[in-house]
Amino acid sequence: MEKRRFYVTTPIYYVNDLPHIGHVYTTVIADVIARYKRLMGFDVYFLTGTDEHGQKVEKAAEADGIKPIELADKVVENYLNLWPGLSISNNDFIRTTQPRHEKGAAYLFKQLLDQGDIYLDHYKGMYCVSCEAFLTQTQAKGGKCPDCGKPLEEVEEESYFFRLSKYEKKLLAYYEAHPELIQPEHRRNEVVSFVKGGLKDLSVSRTSFKWGIPVPENEKHIIYVWLDALSNYLTALGYPEDTELYRNFWPADLHLIGKDILRFHAVYWPAFLMAAGLPLPKTIFAHGWWLKDKAKMSKSVGNVVRPQYLVEDFGADALRYFLVREMVFGQDSSFSDEAFVGRFNSDLVNDLGNLVSRTLGMIDRYCEGKIPEPDVDDDRYRKMESRIKECAVNWESHFDTYQLHKAMEEVWSLLSDLNKFIVGQEPWVLAKDESKRKELDTILYVLAEAARLVALVISPVMPVKSQEIWNRLGFDAKVENCVVSMMRFGSLKPGSVLKDSKEHLFARVDAKAYLTGEQTEPGKNKVEKTKKQSKVEEKSEAGMDNLITIDDFMKVQLRVAKILEAEKVEKSKKLIKMKVSLGEEERQIVAGIALQYQPEDLVGRQIIVVANLQPAKLMGIESQGMLLAASGEDGAPFLLSADEGSKPGFRIK
Ligand code: ME8
Ligand code: MG
Repeated sequence: MEKRRFYVTTPIYYVNDLPHIGHVYTTVIADVIARYKRLMGFDVYFLTGTDEHGQKVEKAAEADGIKPIELADKVVENYLNLWPGLSISNNDFIRTTQPRHEKGAAYLFKQLLDQGDIYLDHYKGMYCVSCEAFLTQTQAKGGKCPDCGKPLEEVEEESYFFRLSKYEKKLLAYYEAHPELIQPEHRRNEVVSFVKGGLKDLSVSRTSFKWGIPVPENEKHIIYVWLDALSNYLTALGYPEDTELYRNFWPADLHLIGKDILRFHAVYWPAFLMAAGLPLPKTIFAHGWWLKDKAKMSKSVGNVVRPQYLVEDFGADALRYFLVREMVFGQDSSFSDEAFVGRFNSDLVNDLGNLVSRTLGMIDRYCEGKIPEPDVDDDRYRKMESRIKECAVNWESHFDTYQLHKAMEEVWSLLSDLNKFIVGQEPWVLAKDESKRKELDTILYVLAEAARLVALVISPVMPVKSQEIWNRLGFDAKVENCVVSMMRFGSLKPGSVLKDSKEHLFARVDAKAYLTGEQTEPGKNKVEKTKKQSKVEEKSEAGMDNLITIDDFMKVQLRVAKILEAEKVEKSKKLIKMKVSLGEEERQIVAGIALQYQPEDLVGRQIIVVANLQPAKLMGIESQGMLLAASGEDGAPFLLSADEGSKPGFRIK
């Protein structure tokens, strides 16, 4: 049987500035859908790229004092470098300055010109450079762009026109016959009423600047950047050649875009395709905007969140999860660090991380690290099996209707049930009673199998972490290469051996410290376990079996240190920077004790430090060790010291 195919695209991004969370969003969503489709057995083609021509890019280059192609070459690197770190699995990356594209775009223009759908005339009116859009008199009222609010330019020049008006009725009939073309539905309604309001012929060339594809046979004209850009979806497949890629993947199944560029995709693009006699894409999905301080996050406005710091501090999977889960797909959403850290700690550290670490930890302790054999007739096995099936069915239908946030809600509701299942079944109590062995085995098997399936259903969103879960469960297989048939409950083989089940999947971030900027260094948070988390463990481990050996203890080198100098760290409420002596060497140590201790009172004191801790940076300052303090109820520190007579450098053992 021939494989089902799926072609998904993102907009191609302007190279006037660096990527921000908005561009990351569309690309991540496209990637999530691409991965989902692959999981469901589709042959997927996933395209992204950059839109490099036009007046906007020409102006940005001019402002930098460089040639447009130099700007494009520079900015495109940022996109090319960003995507792999975010696990973007695109099959191709198209740049509109590539010959393969320029050739195809010019071909399309020429075809429409030759058949009379494009004609030469004169344009007089307003132009928005930021949107690269021609505006009607009504739209241009007030001299500002109704879409982006920027001042408009007056344009008067010879111009080629596309007979858009001729396609008004055809478009409306097509929308009517194909309600799935424009989604979500309220966007479709907007487009329909826009077209019903009447379509004028569209200017599709410019003469007042140079940066673009020349009109074939009349090179003083540059092809309108939107006609140029939209054709990327075809040229990337090899159009106008009759390539295998083209035959396999056109028409596109899904053009993912932001609502800012809906008109170009839902009106102009289908009209160009109709004129060229080509099939139309199946769905154009326009999502909402990420807002910052109530305004659309945008390169031109400058109120943007860059993705890099979130990736460094939380990992790409966490960013992908947040973007998918936080935004109701199709609506606007505000971006905030508070929401990000909140979701990270509650959804990832608590719900997902705890399920995995508790499950694997218990199999490690109670089953010698081997997946136990379940009693498949046990009611609890049956019930969980059907609960997971229900989750998988809903998950699939949400994905198929592009309700990605709902698909994740579905999985998190299962996670919540699974964590309740652990608490309700108390495996640590069963473990104490040999006659309950089979029950314990069944419960732990169910949990491990659930963890395997959870990894599979979150894999489109969190490819790295889901692989990590699989590896810990002892599989070598790549989650990426899995197919949906592996979703059958009960496929997990008893007897398989877990790997490395001690580490947490996610390490909690101290939200307060993070948000006040006192913990800004990547990785700093990753080593700390919070009180709450260790409490959960203590409880589930039921007392005595979490003892360590003397060798474990001796790995930590604790030494007496004398504080030689101390000063507050500028711009930080809590941090103090100290120089300490360890006898033979001096170290710099940074600690969050400024609310309780004055620097001048610290000088001369002897304290205890961990001397063999990897250095870490706190607000950019290196700390070469950690001091020990008792932690009070509200986390307030009480410094430890050694009795009279001890000297700097003495080891504590
Ligand atoms: O429009 N929230 O490129 P562009 C969500 N080159 N998504 C956002 C966003 C935000 N605040 N800001 C940007 C162009 N995006 C043209 C496209 S396609 C043939 C040519 C995303 O660099 C969203 O997908 O301005 C939006 O449509 C796209 O970036 C615009 O990127
Ligand atoms: Mg834009």
